[in-house]
Amino acid sequence: MKEWKDLYRQDQGPGEATGYFVYNETILDHFKNPRHIGEIEEPDGSAVVGDPNCGDHIRLHLMIEGDKIVDIRYKVFGCAAAIATTSILCELAINKDLNDALAITDDDVIETAGGIPARKAHCSLLGVAGLHSALAEYFMKKEKGGQ
Ligand code: FES
Repeated sequence: MKEWKDLYRQDQGPGEATGYFVYNETILDHFKNPRHIGEIEEPDGSAVVGDPNCGDHIRLHLMIEGDKIVDIRYKVFGCAAAIATTSILCELAINKDLNDALAITDDDVIETAGGIPARKAHCSLLGVAGLHSALAEYFMKKEKGGQ
């Protein structure tokens, strides 16, 4: 019988042995101990975004003071990689000013994660898309004079 770790072993690239697990320690840590899980009661910006290919989606809430993200919370209805990468995204976005938060890309998330298997790279888009959509909602509310 295989060890549990063997179930998470990276599938091999074309013609080469990669020798690392599908999920590295950073991803596993954020999956098992996700940061910023939850909701904000009256968020300044919020979004629900999903991936129609797999059906996974996230809900993301922002609290903004001045030009800064002072709190960010999320819930994921999806895979381990989506949970971990959204957690990492939140760590990147908290305390950032809004322009810097808008500049965060899924590549930044993957780099901070220390890599992710290619077939799971799309999962890192959910958090970034949620952040950008929540910021867009915040800017629209602000434009209408609601903030
Ligand atoms: Fe859908 Fe990961 S498989 S977000």
